[in-house]
Amino acid sequence: MKLLAIETSCDDTCAAVTAGPRVLSNVVSSQAALHEEFGGVVPEVASRHHLELVNAVVAAALKGADTEIEEVDAIAVTRGPGLIGALLVGLSTAKALAAAHRKPLIPVDHLQGHVAANFLEPEPLDPPFLCLVASGGHTLLAGARDHSSFETLGSTLDDAAGEAFDKGARLLGLGYPGGPAIECAARGGDPEAFEFPVAMSERGLDFSYSGVKTALVYLVRDLGPEETERRRADLAASYQRAIVGQLVAKLERALSEGAPQAKPRSHPINEGEWRAVALGGGVAANAELRGRAAALCEELGLPLKLVPIELCTDNAAMIASAARFQGPIPYPDYLDFDAFPTGSVRAA
Ligand code: KG4
Ligand code: ZN
Repeated sequence: MKLLAIETSCDDTCAAVTAGPRVLSNVVSSQAALHEEFGGVVPEVASRHHLELVNAVVAAALKGADTEIEEVDAIAVTRGPGLIGALLVGLSTAKALAAAHRKPLIPVDHLQGHVAANFLEPEPLDPPFLCLVASGGHTLLAGARDHSSFETLGSTLDDAAGEAFDKGARLLGLGYPGGPAIECAARGGDPEAFEFPVAMSERGLDFSYSGVKTALVYLVRDLGPEETERRRADLAASYQRAIVGQLVAKLERALSEGAPQAKPRSHPINEGEWRAVALGGGVAANAELRGRAAALCEELGLPLKLVPIELCTDNAAMIASAARFQGPIPYPDYLDFDAFPTGSVRAA
């Protein structure tokens, strides 16, 4: 099945064409440079730029796959969660294209997309596996038992891990996006120089990043500008250690026998339930996270699957990959479909 997919949930305008697990084209037009001066994504700016870019990005994806829209079997699109204005640009474009060509539409959950990135070539991974998704908007432990759904075993109670990197970088006077900037500044720094709180509730697999961020705010204030500048590498290394430490600790807890449960689950965690561990989202590009996750998996005797970075960060190929396992909605049943923003109660 040949699919055209569109993804505009945050600040990347993305389109891709896939044939089964094969990626024929994967176009990402990043707006990061536009948002840099604000130190984060400005929703209204993102929506306007999606509108300017989306048609060209779709055309580039079709051309890159050496195909025409007539040859596509269905159109997949991210329906949520994300920034509502940004999502609506992609959803409206997909609906208009699908309706004009009388094609079916496949609305996709963005987080299912991150999990489904693992089903793509070059090395497709089959469930059951445990996927840690850490990006600028989301931090979650997704238990994938089949190709079409996942169970959220834990998620962030406040900020996402990538958001903590971005806010920390801003406090330390580093650039945006903050993750790569902190990773770079941390080289040569002492990760033990400063102690940051690592939120480790006794029970449960949820994450929290507001405490570590607040600790950095006070530390920078107490050190003053000159000392902050002088100790920047140590601050970046210690802060990175705290963020990654919590991700790895919760991953370990989720994989370990008899992990305590914060809330009732439809399935208990059983030792040996997951055949592999996967990482997704922009934070999965972090070398310290990759290294520590690899060490943990080696210790537990589990394979660690690392998809290429371009499939970790937001992209439309992962949306097409998820769409393969969802039911297509025939024309015109999708015309009144709405998007659902982050934090909303999901439409059925
Ligand atoms: O998945 P993504 O591209 O977009 C979202 O869905 O948010 O993730 C972007 C996030 C940003 O917060 C960025 O700072 C973080 O991923 N990031 C990193 C690294 N590269 C990107 N965080 C830590 N280390 C990195 N090397
Ligand atoms: Zn994402």
